[in-house]
Amino acid sequence: MQNLILVGPMGAGKSTIGRLLAKELRLPFKDSDKEIEQRTGASIPLIFDVEGEGGFREREHAAIADLCLLNGVVLATGGGAVLQEDNRRALRSGGQVVYLCTSVDQQLERTSRDRNRPLLQAADPRAVLETLMAVRDPLYREIADIVVETDERPPRLVVMEILERL
Ligand code: S3P
Repeated sequence: MQNLILVGPMGAGKSTIGRLLAKELRLPFKDSDKEIEQRTGASIPLIFDVEGEGGFREREHAAIADLCLLNGVVLATGGGAVLQEDNRRALRSGGQVVYLCTSVDQQLERTSRDRNRPLLQAADPRAVLETLMAVRDPLYREIADIVVETDERPPRLVVMEILERL
């Protein structure tokens, strides 16, 4: 069975929706950030602290390459997983790709109390999210088989739409 791969920005709901989808489909749930943390034995913020974003991206690349070789899993990816062309190729050939499309307003609302995202510890997280979105939205769309709107929609509704469109 093909994998189901969720891409999209921070705060899109990839982990929440991925877990629900996995439950519905009775498949294992995988999360690239969790995989990196397990392999490294360190949290994402500590990896950024010690190795910088470059070090994190190398670890992310290795995790994505391996996770995409699995069969029959639901995989949630970090928001920047689409940045490297190699990753985009692996994700595309790794399964059906669902882009959880989300506005910057919603991203801010969903991430405002979260201290686990180093890129959002800047003075102006809105400006960061807008800049990231401008670069990444075309990349998410480039590899997506399905684009699903998640703004103001409960996760269960998003899950139903994905299941209907698979
Ligand atoms: C990042 C998103 C995070 C995590 C890391 C970098 C990004 O994952 O991989 O902090 O570059 O957008 P989530 O999208 O799950 O928050």
